[in-house]
Amino acid sequence: MEENEKAPVDLPLAYRLLYPRNVVLVSCIDKSGKANIITLAWSMPVSIDPPMVAIGLTPRRYSYKLIRETGEFVVNIPTMDIVRETLFCGRRTGIEHDKFKEAPLTPLPAKMVGPPIIKECVAHLECKLRREITIGDHTLLIGEVLTAHANRRVFDERFDIKKLKPILHMGGDNFLTVTPEMVTPQLPEDSKRS
Ligand SMILES: Cc1cc2nc3c(=O)[nH]c(=O)nc-3n(C[C@H](O)[C@H](O)[C@H](O)COP(=O)(O)O)c2cc1C
Repeated sequence: MEENEKAPVDLPLAYRLLYPRNVVLVSCIDKSGKANIITLAWSMPVSIDPPMVAIGLTPRRYSYKLIRETGEFVVNIPTMDIVRETLFCGRRTGIEHDKFKEAPLTPLPAKMVGPPIIKECVAHLECKLRREITIGDHTLLIGEVLTAHANRRVFDERFDIKKLKPILHMGGDNFLTVTPEMVTPQLPEDSKRS
């Protein structure tokens, strides 16, 4: 095979060409205040001002129902220290499991929303649901970030990758993290910033 020759990829697997993706743990609550956690590989920032993030869930997820009922969720950033707990929250449903107890992970009160933050995570984005866009078998839930907080030891304008091991998902039960070398390519002086 020639070096740049490409082989066809089955369309249901085409999304994996966009991997690895950093994993988040989203916390949410039911109407009575009972908390749940869902593991997500599909999340992204979608606006800086106002700060908005999108998470992609299939409507089959119990957490989808909870987030729509209460209109609130927290995006928590886990590290490799809790990769086993992260997989657990992505392979069990909150209908049958108390994931905070069983993972186990520790709930702490959030500042501005009902769902708790997860103590073992290094950063938290507290969100109010603003929009919903159904696309095929997933729905994008778009939240406005009301407040965000991060561990100062590992975040100062950007994560310090020498100290933090983010969880990157490769698909299935496979994860990896990043190496400490950061690359900052230099563009020609006349190139415009955007
Ligand atoms: C690494 C990983 C990433 C996942 N990413 C997503 C995702 O982006 N969207 C989604 O709907 N489900 C995703 N899942 C599946 C849910 O986390 C899983 O179905 C979970 O058990 C749902 O919990 P719930 O029923 O309590 O809502 C992922 C699972 C794993 C392990």
